[in-house]
Amino acid sequence: MIKKSNILITGGAGYIGSHIAEKLEKTKSKVIIYDNLITGYRRLINKRAIFIKGDIKNKKLLSNTIKKYNINTVIHLAAYLNVSEAEKHKKKYIVNNINGTLNLIKCCSVSSVKYFIFSSSCSVYGNINGAVNEKKIPNPQGHYAYTKFKSENIIKKYSKKFKYKYAILRYFNVAGASSSGKIGEIQRSYGHLIKNLAIQSLKKKPIISIFGNDYNTKDGTCIRDYIHVSDLADIHLKSLNYIYTKPSLLLNCGYGKGYSVLDIVNLFKKMNKNTIVNYAKRRPGDVSQVYADTKKSIKLLKWRPKYNNLKLILKSAFKWEKKIKKS
Ligand SMILES: NC(=O)c1ccc[n+]([C@@H]2O[C@H](COP(=O)([O-])OP(=O)(O)OC[C@H]3O[C@@H](n4cnc5c(N)ncnc54)[C@H](O)[C@@H]3O)[C@@H](O)[C@H]2O)c1
Repeated sequence: MIKKSNILITGGAGYIGSHIAEKLEKTKSKVIIYDNLITGYRRLINKRAIFIKGDIKNKKLLSNTIKKYNINTVIHLAAYLNVSEAEKHKKKYIVNNINGTLNLIKCCSVSSVKYFIFSSSCSVYGNINGAVNEKKIPNPQGHYAYTKFKSENIIKKYSKKFKYKYAILRYFNVAGASSSGKIGEIQRSYGHLIKNLAIQSLKKKPIISIFGNDYNTKDGTCIRDYIHVSDLADIHLKSLNYIYTKPSLLLNCGYGKGYSVLDIVNLFKKMNKNTIVNYAKRRPGDVSQVYADTKKSIKLLKWRPKYNNLKLILKSAFKWEKKIKKS
């Protein structure tokens, strides 16, 4: 299990970070959440954690926080992640995602940080035929993917100099909500398919847009691998445990199954008979297909997913949406 640590979670007031904090609640670790709340929410901040409202680009506040709480482990999620916006506002993404990561690493160097976990993305791979494993040389197509790829390189580059071990986790598409009912995805601006479906599931006549039906895939729509946020949060704890005693790690975080957007929309239509489907043009920055080869995560971490079922993921996301609409 996780040894007693002082863990800083950047972006811990966000969707995925809050789920990691909830899992860490059951360990002996002290959790410090560092977030500027640009896309995060106070409601998602774990009640047992210490919260610091701050930006990862603020060197002084960040170094002081790391020193004050004697941080030995960092889980770095703070980033912008709107794929289409990244194409239009490249500099904004470079400054926040790449320069922000470099700043954080440099702040870690002046203290006792020994373990560093980074939220990367499957988008670093670019377009893939079949399942992709971690040995594949990255080929980022969009600007968001590029910022993740550059950040990965920064983390690898400084690990020897600053003597920390890292786990770079390449998330596939994350969805669903905690079974505690306390946390889930609130932010609507990213255009995540399952979040959009959840919003529409509450309407009498749901309207779903499919962006692009001329991709080179079985039905012309994009193919993705969807992982439940609770299983993803578990991978963080397992990765941390792994790097305590073993070398640094680069890992895919998905289930290894690709679903097309149309597969998912068809499933949604079975649950919501009045659904209207629109076809819109492709979104900039989207690749046609990517799904994980999961052999490494299963072998090294002995990871066994608990929510590996699309219907279960959809139900979990819809239940959460209902809850936040009421409150
Ligand atoms: N959601 C997905 O499907 C997915 C897939 C692949 C990778 N990721 C990565 O996972 C991480 C978390 O994503 P999420 O879905 O939880 O999004 P989110 O927007 O809910 O979380 C990001 C958090 O980072 C904070 N933040 C952003 N810039 C910051 C800054 N400069 N300083 C301090 N805090 C800052 C935001 O306020 C927010 O709370 C991101 O790095 C994202 O790129 C997410």
